[in-house]
Amino acid sequence: MSCFNKKSIEDIDIDGNRVLVRCDFNVPFDDNGNIANTKRIDESLKTIKYLISHNAKVILCSHLGRPKGTFDMKFSLKPVAKYLSSVLNQEVKMCEDVIGKSAKSICASLKCGEVALLENVRFHKEETDNDPNFSKELASLADIFVNDAFGTAHRAHASTVGVASYIPAVCGYLIQKELSFMGKALSNPKRPFVAILGGAKVSDKIAIIDNLLEKVDALIIGGGMSYTFLNALGYSVGKSICETDKVSFAQEMMAKAKEQDVKLSIPVDTKVGQEFSQDTEFKLVDADKIPDGWMGLDIGPKSCELFSSVIKSAGTIVWNGPMGVSEWPNFANGTFSIAKSIAESNAISIVGGGDSAAAVEKLGFSNKITHVSTGGGASLELLEGKELPGIAVLNDK
Ligand code: 3PG
Repeated sequence: MSCFNKKSIEDIDIDGNRVLVRCDFNVPFDDNGNIANTKRIDESLKTIKYLISHNAKVILCSHLGRPKGTFDMKFSLKPVAKYLSSVLNQEVKMCEDVIGKSAKSICASLKCGEVALLENVRFHKEETDNDPNFSKELASLADIFVNDAFGTAHRAHASTVGVASYIPAVCGYLIQKELSFMGKALSNPKRPFVAILGGAKVSDKIAIIDNLLEKVDALIIGGGMSYTFLNALGYSVGKSICETDKVSFAQEMMAKAKEQDVKLSIPVDTKVGQEFSQDTEFKLVDADKIPDGWMGLDIGPKSCELFSSVIKSAGTIVWNGPMGVSEWPNFANGTFSIAKSIAESNAISIVGGGDSAAAVEKLGFSNKITHVSTGGGASLELLEGKELPGIAVLNDK
């Protein structure tokens, strides 16, 4: 998928116009209410600065969390406005509402080069319903719509899709950047193309495995989902997470890999624990000898070595999902070792959001990865080969 046939902010006259920019400011907070990771906000700055310097009246909007259609100040975007004001070095005017009195009067009185931020669009249930009247009200605040919320482009909501029916709609730099990396990797990768998938469940990645087997040269499967594949080979997996109704799917995928001449690698050893708890007793066992009553919580060192040898030969790597319970130190090694191997490789490397992106950042490897995506669900849907609704609605060139 590419957005090169879609208009961008450079293809439209924005001088003096009110521009509504949908960003993904859905950022994590720490226990003290401070933004724990500003990456998504930082990645939106290029678009915002372009609009400021081209004399637009900039109206930013986003969701934060899932407040379920009520004004719940726990999910207020005020801390984001504060952070943006400091990094932009100019005031970002915080609206008290989304389409109410405050938003209307702040947006109407914005001067060229000034910036406002609407409150959390999910304070209205009409946002997630993609309600036409709500979309129209949002659109009426502006002359032009810019979607730069890659992380939310898989949601057909009022502020990502609905609004585009009422005013010209183009994409920003972040969406362009995300699609150029992901789109190129999927449509014209430097080979060998290696995909690494992890995470708890096969059922979350069915369409991705199926789609990637038609594109990659090698597929590595680790994490919780690998126990279903081990079970499909006839091994007993003890108390490990195993989706019995997906065992035949795993068998089909192993057959498909053979047919497509894709090298499929699954763990050869695993770190098993007695309970699903971070300080449970643990030991290393071969993947075909998981004892009854124990559960796999990470891949073992032999698997790290095996996976690393595949990674070393890659021309392009796409990674999504941890190899074990990476938030628990005793079971983080597999994920960290994969992150290190990717960082050390010379391949074009793309890491999808969530736990794998967090591992890369925690280890300080982000600058050794070609592209760390700001999208979790959105990057998964791209890997599934789906068209993202928030991009599909944008105006063609
Ligand atoms: C994300 O964090 O993946 C996006 O911001 C989308 O959030 P959502 O899953 O609540 O729609």
